[in-house]
Amino acid sequence: MAAIVDAFSPLQLGPITLRNRFIKSATNEGMAKGGIVSKGLALFHERIAAGGAAMSTVAYCATSRDGRTFVDQAVLDADSLADFRVLTDGVHRHGAAASAQITHAGSFTFLDKATLKASRPLSSSGGFNKLGVVSGRFWKQRMTKADMTAMADEFVAAARCAREAGFDAVEIHMGHGYLLSQFVTPLYNKRRDNYGGDIERRMNFPIEVLSRVLDAVGRDMAVLVKYSMTDGPKGNQIDEGMAVARRLAAAGAHMAVLSNGLNVESISAMFGSNLPKSSAKSPNPIIGLGMWVQSLSEPKDVRFHENYLRDLALQVRGATDMPLAYIGGVQSRHGVEQAMRDGFDAVALGRALVYDANFVRDLQAGSIEKSLCNACNRCVTMMYYPQGTSCVLTRNAMDAALNTQRASA
Ligand SMILES: Cc1cc2nc3c(=O)[nH]c(=O)nc-3n(C[C@H](O)[C@H](O)[C@H](O)COP(=O)(O)O)c2cc1C
Ligand code: SF4
Repeated sequence: MAAIVDAFSPLQLGPITLRNRFIKSATNEGMAKGGIVSKGLALFHERIAAGGAAMSTVAYCATSRDGRTFVDQAVLDADSLADFRVLTDGVHRHGAAASAQITHAGSFTFLDKATLKASRPLSSSGGFNKLGVVSGRFWKQRMTKADMTAMADEFVAAARCAREAGFDAVEIHMGHGYLLSQFVTPLYNKRRDNYGGDIERRMNFPIEVLSRVLDAVGRDMAVLVKYSMTDGPKGNQIDEGMAVARRLAAAGAHMAVLSNGLNVESISAMFGSNLPKSSAKSPNPIIGLGMWVQSLSEPKDVRFHENYLRDLALQVRGATDMPLAYIGGVQSRHGVEQAMRDGFDAVALGRALVYDANFVRDLQAGSIEKSLCNACNRCVTMMYYPQGTSCVLTRNAMDAALNTQRASA
């Protein structure tokens, strides 16, 4: 039997080495108000790095302005380079690595008519856009081959920009219902060409993007992929989740982060607990309406338990030898050790580090055994407030003024 890996030991990830196996997962920070990479955002990630994690993932760095879900999201382009550089410098000062989650919303966008450049949001397939009920964009545009080539170019440009800004890694988002996920899942992908049909064909475009990004930056940066192992009823099931991992491995991804569920159709499968009823009271009425629509399809009483994605993730672990990060409800030393015993190479943590940025340091020092985060998900609603994503229990909100000042100013 293979020896159990110590979570505090270094990890080789493609061309980079992480100091330990704790990765801060992307948690939309809500600190890029008006799209600027702010002092608050930079400080948020510096605190994670100082708190002991090996790598901090900057959530939702859009590949273009049309690729944003909300206006308050940063775009990885020449305009944001100097600000992102301040952020990565801050993370490096504490010995950690910085990863940029690169993504495009596709039809999962709340951008209004005046903001979205394209006349219809792009997706794998055309037709009625259910999120258009809140954004006013009722129809999606099926991507042509030329659109796909241009989109892959966008991902490459964003990855190159991340490298220039000092990031050590990029995480390509193929999950949760954003554009690439709209190819992976049969809930959105109704194509009959080489990019639709069974899971192998639905993966063809996401794999093209991954291969192009690996070719462009994979010698200098780690290239991770986050995806959803399952999507809920009528969506991908775990056999498809395993097939996705095999394709990512064959294409040479340096690590897969094993998430679950889609934002609209199955969000509690992502969080292992319900969103709070108060989410519909978001300060942005459009987003509040979107969250209310989403809550209609959610199972009512999802009981959180630690490592709630373990059974699914173990099946993927059995399907591939590629490096895998376990994600989903890691809240304690026991949960970390279980993931290591299960053969995962790293753990990715969201809420335990939103609750307290020092979780990893304190665990290593032996001063705590578990996080007191109760998985209430009220931090998810916080991202729409001026302070941005923070824990309502530990009250660690960012000074709102810092979220509106450019990091490099
Ligand atoms: C406030 C908040 C915002 C999130 N935003 C993102 C995001 O932008 N991108 C992403 O891939 N996942 C996002 N997630 C999901 C987390 O990365 C993670 O997959 C999920 O919270 C489960 O991990 P955990 O149990 O360690 O929190 C978010 C989670 C939270 C709590
Ligand atoms: S608000 Fe705090 S306690 Fe609730 S899920 Fe978020 S981090 Fe955990």
